[in-house]
Amino acid sequence: MSVVSVINYKGGVGKTTLTANLGAELAWRRKRVLLIDLDPQASLTFSLVKPEDWLRHLEPSKTIKQWYDSLASGEALELSSLIHQPMVARKLRSGGVLHLIPSHLGLINVDLELATELGGASLRQNKLNYLRVHRRLSEGLAEETFNKYDLILIDCPPNFNVVTKTAIVASDHVLIPAKADYLSTLGIDYLRRSLNELVGDYNDYAKLEDGKGGTDRIDPSILGVVFTMMQIYGGDPISAQRPFMSQTAALGVPVFSNYLRENKSLFADAPREGIPVVLNGSASARKVVSELEGLVSEFSAKLGM
Ligand SMILES: Nc1ncnc2c1ncn2[C@@H]1O[C@H](COP(=O)(O)OP(=O)(O)O)[C@@H](O)[C@H]1O
Ligand SMILES: [Mg+2]
Repeated sequence: MSVVSVINYKGGVGKTTLTANLGAELAWRRKRVLLIDLDPQASLTFSLVKPEDWLRHLEPSKTIKQWYDSLASGEALELSSLIHQPMVARKLRSGGVLHLIPSHLGLINVDLELATELGGASLRQNKLNYLRVHRRLSEGLAEETFNKYDLILIDCPPNFNVVTKTAIVASDHVLIPAKADYLSTLGIDYLRRSLNELVGDYNDYAKLEDGKGGTDRIDPSILGVVFTMMQIYGGDPISAQRPFMSQTAALGVPVFSNYLRENKSLFADAPREGIPVVLNGSASARKVVSELEGLVSEFSAKLGM
């Protein structure tokens, strides 16, 4: 089982679209996939679940918000009790699994609450609290149920707050969707430094724990940057984008050779239907679908799955 966080500081770069399409295609390829929506905007959730179904069946007690809340109150829910099967799972062939742990707009408050749990009376206590809070999701995923998945994909919010950090601590890899433009290229470098800082702090503090001797180390690797919303002309990215693609590669971060092209109508309509573009069988989607399939193959090859 691999855990991959899909992350970028910036909103609107295609994190959710990439997460939904990777998950759906791998499940179509008969993998067992769990998607976790950690963004309070809940775009992944609403790309797979109708708002009225979410309101009736999920919002009252079956979202990731209630799980974080339950940990704070001391009456912990099991994370596995939130697993939901979205409608699109019915389109899969036998063996394929696509599950979702849905989000909630109130997740935004969880970040504030987690931040208040970080303080402590001493520096040592601060560090131990840091470990306890940042480990939440990783401990939730330690339940036996989660071993049955081949892949857990976490759609992160567009920030580097505590909830995002709980995702990274739980992850084996990080996937970075980005646009090929100036600010995105700056953002990738900054993100990489923030990741290194988190990993450094966590592993440093873990050495303090009695009896464990720093054995609980984390080491999430950057699987790569995936360029999204690419403008293609004559089969290639337009020249305005190319310097940013090479600058990203020059940062020393792995870059996927496959990318997602811009196609407003296909990608904007998919969430309303509850079916990610990669499972769209219509003739007009064929080109985009085959590119998405190429991207998914590159992704699974990198993971060795
Ligand atoms: N390749 C694409 N071409 C055109 N529009 C896209 C593409 N990928 C995503 N979008 C659209 O851009 C918006 C932001 O995408 P989203 O995946 O929600 O980004 P994020 O999760 O990073 O905020 C959405 O409206 C989505 O439909
Ligand atoms: Mg999103």
